[in-house]
Amino acid sequence: MSVGQSAAVSGRWDAARAREIIDAHLALEGPMIPILHALQEAFGYVDEAAVPLIAQALNLSRAEVHGVVSFYHDFRRAPAGRHALKLCRAEACQSVGCDALHEKLLHRLGLDWGATTADGALTIEPVYCLGLCATGPSAMIDGRPVGRLTETRLDKLVASALSGEARP
Ligand code: FES
Repeated sequence: MSVGQSAAVSGRWDAARAREIIDAHLALEGPMIPILHALQEAFGYVDEAAVPLIAQALNLSRAEVHGVVSFYHDFRRAPAGRHALKLCRAEACQSVGCDALHEKLLHRLGLDWGATTADGALTIEPVYCLGLCATGPSAMIDGRPVGRLTETRLDKLVASALSGEARP
């Protein structure tokens, strides 16, 4: 599942706007995922405060809503950085060594999956297949696919994003 591959949207959480979004989707069959997509599109992430609102609107427990939000890796739980780097962790990319590349990068930046650099420039997110399996290890930077990643190429992507360019 993919929630949109574009760069981070920065939106300030607004409970009233969130309620409007939730209400607008209530008539749908299976509204939870569309609601979460819409919230992420509006705010750039799904704020923790959305959980009780959705639970109440759909007559579910908070734990049920929380479970769905945390199950799908693409739903951000916090505002993202100005640039979003998605790194594919699925099987085809694993088979060509993505894990080692990812580990080195995360270690070097001192970040975990889903975290953002302290200056707010870059969020690193896991993704499970970008449809670029033949050219793995694969990534997507601000919606732009990048294949055949090497350590050097990945470092360039990151350096470029951190310097505010994101176009190596
Ligand atoms: S497995 Fe990585 S792009 Fe498909």
